[in-house]
Amino acid sequence: MDLELAGKTVIVTGGASHIGRAIALAFAREGSNVVIADIDEGQAHKVASEANTLGGGGKTIVIRTDVTDQREVEAMVGRVSDEFGRIHVLVNNVGWVLDRLFLDQPREDWEKAVNLNLWSVIYCMRAVLPQMVENGYGRVVSISSEAGRVGEYREAVYAACKAGIIGLTKSLAREMGRYGITLNSVCPALTVPSSEEEISEHSMWKLGLQFFTAETQEKAKRLYPLRRLGTAEDTANAAVFLASDVASFITGQSLSVGGGVTMI
Ligand SMILES: NC(=O)c1ccc[n+]([C@@H]2O[C@H](COP(=O)([O-])OP(=O)(O)OC[C@H]3O[C@@H](n4cnc5c(N)ncnc54)[C@H](O)[C@@H]3O)[C@@H](O)[C@H]2O)c1
Repeated sequence: MDLELAGKTVIVTGGASHIGRAIALAFAREGSNVVIADIDEGQAHKVASEANTLGGGGKTIVIRTDVTDQREVEAMVGRVSDEFGRIHVLVNNVGWVLDRLFLDQPREDWEKAVNLNLWSVIYCMRAVLPQMVENGYGRVVSISSEAGRVGEYREAVYAACKAGIIGLTKSLAREMGRYGITLNSVCPALTVPSSEEEISEHSMWKLGLQFFTAETQEKAKRLYPLRRLGTAEDTANAAVFLASDVASFITGQSLSVGGGVTMI
């Protein structure tokens, strides 16, 4: 199936690590021009080098961007337009959670969670949508979470932000449909990186990998009807599909990539 993503310009926030990395590589394989917008420049350049050797035909570049800073986001989008012209696809992938009971969380954790999981998405959407409206074309895929659909123990504020992404996506899908723009969210369940090589200095997995030992992962798998955990590629495939024209009649949806762990 030709997804017609060759030559399209795709911004992937947080593309230096784990799921974002897999998303950036998946678009590169399709021949898209990919912009990795991340604060970890070193790791982002490693992913870009890998993407540029895949032979997809597009070009992958890195623009260091702190997505919690609206001015940096606007500047990044300006630079992408200068480099590639039209922006066709935005993938909002940056996210962060620190597993902790709500009553034990200091205010700084809530603020960090809201800034990284929700404000960043608002800034990025605000920065790209005007030109998508002008072009009469756009695809926005935001990485939410199963936590945003059904809630999660020790992830209250994170889950609130991820539910916020789903609400934002549905509402903007209603506003933007008339301009040929679709917005959807993808909701991964537990997706453990396969190696430390694939994560950024700022990855939430810097701590998480110690917790998710092989034994813990085996236990977790039993909760999933498909009896395995997700891979970064599972989420990347869903993002690529929703960004393609094969999915042009799908908007305002939240797609679970969770091995059947939720079915709502
Ligand atoms: N991994 C999972 O189990 C899982 C499950 C459900 C949802 N998700 C969601 O998937 C997305 C990706 O998760 P992941 O596990 O790959 O995360 P990760 O922590 O490994 O990667 C996050 C990336 O964002 C970058 N980043 C952090 N702060 C930034 C900032 N201010 N500006 C720009 N970039 C910044 C990091 O450098 C890193 O490259 C997140 O939105 C997460 O909430 C993950």
